[in-house]
Amino acid sequence: MNAPHSVPPRITAPEDEARQLDATDPGHRHLFHVPPADGGRYPEAAYLAGNSLGLQPRATREELLADLDAWRQFGVEGHLEAQRPWLPYHELLTEPAARLVGARPAETVVMNSLTVNLHLLMVSFYRPAGRRTRIVIEDSAFPSDSYAVRSQARFHGLDPDETVVRLRPRPGEDTLRTGDVTDYLATAGDRVALVLLGGVNYLTGELLDIPAITEAGRAAGAIVGWDLAHAAGNVPLHLHDWGVDFAAWCSYKYLNSGPGALAGAFVHERHLGDPTLPRFEGWWSTDAATRFEMTPVSRPPATVEAWQISNPPIFSMGPVRTSLELFDTVGMPALRERSLRLTGYLRRLLDEVSADRPLTVVTPRDPQRHGCQLSVRVAAGSAAELSKRLRHEHGVIADAREPDILRFAPVPLYSTYHDCWRVADALAATVAEVTR
Ligand SMILES: Cc1ncc(COP(=O)(O)O)c(C=O)c1O
Repeated sequence: MNAPHSVPPRITAPEDEARQLDATDPGHRHLFHVPPADGGRYPEAAYLAGNSLGLQPRATREELLADLDAWRQFGVEGHLEAQRPWLPYHELLTEPAARLVGARPAETVVMNSLTVNLHLLMVSFYRPAGRRTRIVIEDSAFPSDSYAVRSQARFHGLDPDETVVRLRPRPGEDTLRTGDVTDYLATAGDRVALVLLGGVNYLTGELLDIPAITEAGRAAGAIVGWDLAHAAGNVPLHLHDWGVDFAAWCSYKYLNSGPGALAGAFVHERHLGDPTLPRFEGWWSTDAATRFEMTPVSRPPATVEAWQISNPPIFSMGPVRTSLELFDTVGMPALRERSLRLTGYLRRLLDEVSADRPLTVVTPRDPQRHGCQLSVRVAAGSAAELSKRLRHEHGVIADAREPDILRFAPVPLYSTYHDCWRVADALAATVAEVTR
């Protein structure tokens, strides 16, 4: 039955079904630019790489040009006279960003880039003392986070190999259980200064139980911070209510704000205005009302803006502002519902394709434990080569991560059921069936 095919095998799920699902559950693709396909039978790419870089909203260009025009028209006076004056420009982003992550405006700021924000927050919140020096991360943390925490340990004169604890899934399992983290905290929590985990893991797509882990970390006396690069705009977040100490996220993935876009930062209200917290400062850390008094000593506000340092890059703020407006219009709850439907559909098709092929979906099956991304382990051949073939032979844009993972993210704002169907169809045609 599974002899090599002369005609590439196709999946049994009908293409028409995907088209019909798109007609009844259309999403907001019309608001985005979708790249053309690089190969295959369809004019547009099936873009499943929004977990890496989100697509460009159609509105972004005009909004960006308007900010550029203000500079042309006003020169320096644009700080006060531009249609969106530059001095308080970042404030336009605060409330929508706060809504997106379930925070209060005073707890939220858009600034810098992700790893920079993690460092600035660790300056305040990683304060090793006595036996309590450890930093807990996932073994599959994104490398930037690993490098960041190791360098923080060195900064404090500690040995990173002893200081950084990397939690691994149980033998034979692909993802961490909540209990793996909370058990560690219950037994060794008195040695832990900081827990810094990815809300959604970049590699496996696993959504950790942020409230349960935050509670366990804090109960153990540690500070709990979250890297929300793969969670912001992907899953509903309630950072304030969950009691998270701090968090940071980027805006170039699910927030569709362009390559290297500005990041977000959150500090819980209970830490705001705490004069004992060490913090790096610049002229944007001082209260805006005193900024031009040109005094030698800052007067930081009791908000997360105290963590700002430099005046913000206006042309980078425009795309974030435009994108956050979209999230406000559509709303995270509706996006999450469509996300579960789309990813559920992709899962169903991948189950069929992987049944006879050396492919395994490693993302947890429980919808409470994933966002939109499904990660597939490729047991034979190279995931990187496969991703190239998907793109050039089928117009499917996904990505590969070493050593053997393909990542597919149907993004509820713009991905379609037909995109998901194309993924499964392309995998069926590209990956040889295993003869049993
Ligand atoms: C989970 C995670 N953390 C950190 C980063 C690094 O972010 P940046 O280069 O914006 O600092 C990335 C980049 O993709 C990421 O996926």
